[in-house]
Amino acid sequence: MEAQQIMLNIVILAAGKGTRMKSSLPKVLHPVAGRSLLGHVIDTARTFSKGKSINTVVGHGADQIIASLAADDIKFIEQKEQLGTGHAVAQALPNINHEDLVLILYGDVPLIKQNTLEHLVSKVGDNSLSLLTLSLADPSGYGRIIRDQDNQVIAIVEQKDASTEQLLINEVNTGILAVGGDKLHRWLPMLSNSNAQGEYYLTDIIALAKQDGLTIETSQPTNEWEVLGVNNRLQQAELERVYQAQLAAEFMTEGLTLIDPQRFDCRGSLRFGTDVTVDINCVIEGEVELGDNVSIGPNCCLKNAKIGDNCVIKANTIVENASVAENCEVGPFARLRPGADLRLGAKVGNFVEIKKSVIGIGSKVNHLSYVGDANLGERVNVGAGTITCNYDGVNKFVTEIGDDAFIGSNTALVAPVSVGKGATVGAGSTINKSVSDNQLSVARGKQQNIDGWERPKKK
Ligand code: UD1
Ligand code: CA
Repeated sequence: MEAQQIMLNIVILAAGKGTRMKSSLPKVLHPVAGRSLLGHVIDTARTFSKGKSINTVVGHGADQIIASLAADDIKFIEQKEQLGTGHAVAQALPNINHEDLVLILYGDVPLIKQNTLEHLVSKVGDNSLSLLTLSLADPSGYGRIIRDQDNQVIAIVEQKDASTEQLLINEVNTGILAVGGDKLHRWLPMLSNSNAQGEYYLTDIIALAKQDGLTIETSQPTNEWEVLGVNNRLQQAELERVYQAQLAAEFMTEGLTLIDPQRFDCRGSLRFGTDVTVDINCVIEGEVELGDNVSIGPNCCLKNAKIGDNCVIKANTIVENASVAENCEVGPFARLRPGADLRLGAKVGNFVEIKKSVIGIGSKVNHLSYVGDANLGERVNVGAGTITCNYDGVNKFVTEIGDDAFIGSNTALVAPVSVGKGATVGAGSTINKSVSDNQLSVARGKQQNIDGWERPKKK
C-alpha cells in the first residue's frame, strides 16, 4: 500500500492511429463501459499523480482527444509524426524532471489495475528499471523478453526484429514500465531507428539500462486482461465483457443479486442498498442509486436515476434523470423522462410517459398516459389514456391537479389548466378551463340514442 504514496510522473502514449478500428473517431476515444479507453487510463493514472499533471502524448485525432478529455491535471503533448514509442516518450521529456519517477502507460490498454502498477512501481530504484511482462501461450506480435544465463533481462526484441529462436520465447513485453526520469533523459536521445520498422523503439532502453549496469526488475499483472490492448472492434467488445464481468462480480460480492451477471451492463456508477435484485438485460448509465429491497425487472434502462426503498420497477421500463421515492411501482413499459419525480407510493403503469412532473404521494397513472409539465397532488387517480396537452407548438404550459382529484379515462388536459382538490373529470373530456375543488366537469359531445335506426343497404 505504501507505493500509493509515491508521486509519479505519468506518460500515456496515445498518438497512434488505430487504423483497424475503421472509424473516424480516434481509437483511444472509443468506449469500454461508456468511458473512453484513454479515459480509463487517465482515471487509473490519477490515483498515482495527485498534484502532478499527467502527460498524454497525442497525434492522430489530437484535437478531438483534447476536446473530449481536457482537464486541469492533463498535459497534452503533440507528437506530430509517429516515429515510434521511444520518440513518443521523448516528446514528454521537457515535462520530466531528472528526479521524477516515471510510469509509462498506453491509451489503448484501458484495464490496467492500480495494484498491478503499485507493485511494478515498488520495484523501481536508482539502479533498476521495472518492467511489466507476461508469459503468453501465443506471444506473436509482441516484443520478446530476452534473459541471460542468470535469468536477468538484458533486452527486448520486437517481433519483426526477432530471430527464429527468439520468436519461441513466451515472455512478452506489455510496454508498461517505470524508471527514473534521469535515465530517460540519458537514454532516449541515444535511441536509433535502424531496425525492421525504422522506428525509435522505447524497448531499446532495456539494453541501454543493462549497459549502464542497471537491473531490470520484472513483475506480472494479476490478470492477463489488464494488459490487453484494443486494436479493433472485436478486442473492444472482449474487454467490454471482461470489464462487465469484473464489475458484476464486485457488485454481487457487495450483496447485489444479478439474475444473470453475463446479461448486465453498467456504464457508470451504481450504488445499491440491501436485497436489491436486478433481472437480465438491464443497462445502468451515469449515476444510479437503488435503495433497499428494490427490484428491477428485465430489460430496464436506468440513467442518472434514484430509486427509493421497496420500489418495484417492472420489465422494459426506461428511467432517465428522474427520481422515484420509496414504495413506488413503475412499469412494465413505462418511461420516466427527465424531471419525473414520483413521490412515496406512487404508481406509474404500462405505456405511461412522465416528463418534468411531480406524481404526488399515493397517486396513480396506471395506463397509456402522457403526463408532462404537471404537478399532481396526493392520491390523484389519472385514468387510462389521459394526456396533458402541454405544448402549443411554441410554448410549454403547466397542468396542476389537486389532491384526491379523479381524472376520467381519455381526458385531454389543455394546459395551462388546473383541476382542483377532490374534483372529478368525466371520461373523454377535453378540459381547457380550470376546474374548481370538488366540482364535476364533463366536456364531451352529448350522447344521442336514436330508436329504430336503419343501417344503409348495399345497392
Ligand atoms: C509495443 C512494444 C512491444 C510490446 C507491445 C505491447 C515497442 C517498440 N514495442 O509494440 O514490445 O510487446 O507494444 O502491446 O514499444 N505510440 C505513440 N507514438 C508512436 C508509436 C506508438 O504514441 O510513435 C503509441 C500507440 O498509440 C500505442 C502504443 O504507443 O498506444 C504502442 O504502439 P504500437 O505501435 O502499437 O507498438 P507495438 O508495435 O504494439
Ligand atoms: Ca500495439
